Amino acid sequence: MLEAARNDIDIWLVDYRQIEDSTLLEQYAQLLSVEEAARHERLIFTRHRLQFLVARALVRDVLAQYLDIEDPASLEFGSSKHGKPELLIETTLQFNLSHTNGLIALAVMQVDPVGIDVEYLSRQADIKNLTERYFSRDEAEALLALPVEQWNTRFYDLWTLKEAYLKACGTGIRTPLQEFSFIFPDDSGINVSFSPLLKDDPALWKFWQLETEGGFRLSLAVNDKSGIDYRLRIKQGIPLAAYSEISPRLVRSTSI
Ligand SMILES: CC(C)(COP(=O)(O)OP(=O)(O)OC[C@H]1O[C@@H](n2cnc3c(N)ncnc32)[C@H](O)[C@@H]1OP(=O)(O)O)[C@@H](O)C(=O)NCCC(=O)NCCS
Repeated sequence: MLEAARNDIDIWLVDYRQIEDSTLLEQYAQLLSVEEAARHERLIFTRHRLQFLVARALVRDVLAQYLDIEDPASLEFGSSKHGKPELLIETTLQFNLSHTNGLIALAVMQVDPVGIDVEYLSRQADIKNLTERYFSRDEAEALLALPVEQWNTRFYDLWTLKEAYLKACGTGIRTPLQEFSFIFPDDSGINVSFSPLLKDDPALWKFWQLETEGGFRLSLAVNDKSGIDYRLRIKQGIPLAAYSEISPRLVRSTSI
C-alpha cells in the first residue's frame, strides 16, 4: 500500500514511448472499463492509443495502491460538474492527470484540490497569437519584454501554470484566462493575482514548476486550504512494473 501524508504531493511520471512489452500492454487493456475501452477503440493514431492506454493504467495502478484496492480494474471514475475526473468512492484522495507527446504526469495528494499540466518545451508555439488570446496584459508584456530566444520557454511557463490552475479548479475553459496573471518576481518565485471577477485569493494557492528529463515543463497548482508545508515526491516508471524516485530541477515555486 502507498501512503500519502496530509502534506505529501506525489507526482508520477511515465515516458509511454518506451513501453513496448505486448504482455504488459495486454494487461493494461484488461484494466479498462467498458467506456474506456470504447474511447480507446475510437482513437485512430497509434501514439494516441498508446498514450491513452498507459495513462489509464497509470491512474488505476497508482490510485489502487493508495486506496489499498487489490484489483485496479475495479476502480470507478466519474467527473465533477465541469468535467474534472474523480473517484466514485468515499475518499480524501485527490488526483489530476496531464499528457503531452512523450510524457504522462499524474499528481496525487490528500484533501486539497490539485491540478497538473505538462508540455514539451521544444515545441514551437504560435506565441504572438496565443499570448494575445489567452494571457493577461501583464503576462503578455512581461513575455514580450524578454529577449526573443526566451519567449518560447516563458510561453510554456505561463501556459502550464494557467492550465494547472484551471485544472485544480476543475472549471476548464469556463474560467476566463485573462482574469488571472502569473508574474515571476525573481529567478525562483511565482506570484499569482486574480481580477475581482474571479473572487479568488492568492493566499489560497501554491504553485510549483519543474523541468523534467527530456525537456518538459511541468506545473502544479494546489488549492491550499490549511497553509501546510507541502513536500513534493516525484517518481518515474512503468505502470504495473516498477517506479523509482527522481529529483527533477525545481524551476520556481510560490515563495512561502
Ligand atoms: C482538460 C483541460 C482542462 C486541459 O486539457 P489539456 O491541457 O489539453 O490536456 P491535459 O493532458 O493537460 O489534461 C487532460 C486531462 O485532464 C483531466 N481533465 C479533464 N477535464 C478536466 C477538468 N475540467 N478539470 C481538471 N482536469 C480535467 C483528464 O484526466 C484529462 O485526461 P483524460 O481525458 O485522459 O482523463 C481542457 O479541457 C481545457 O479546458 N483546457 C483549456 C485550454 C486552454 O485554452 N488553455 C489555455 C491555457 S493559457
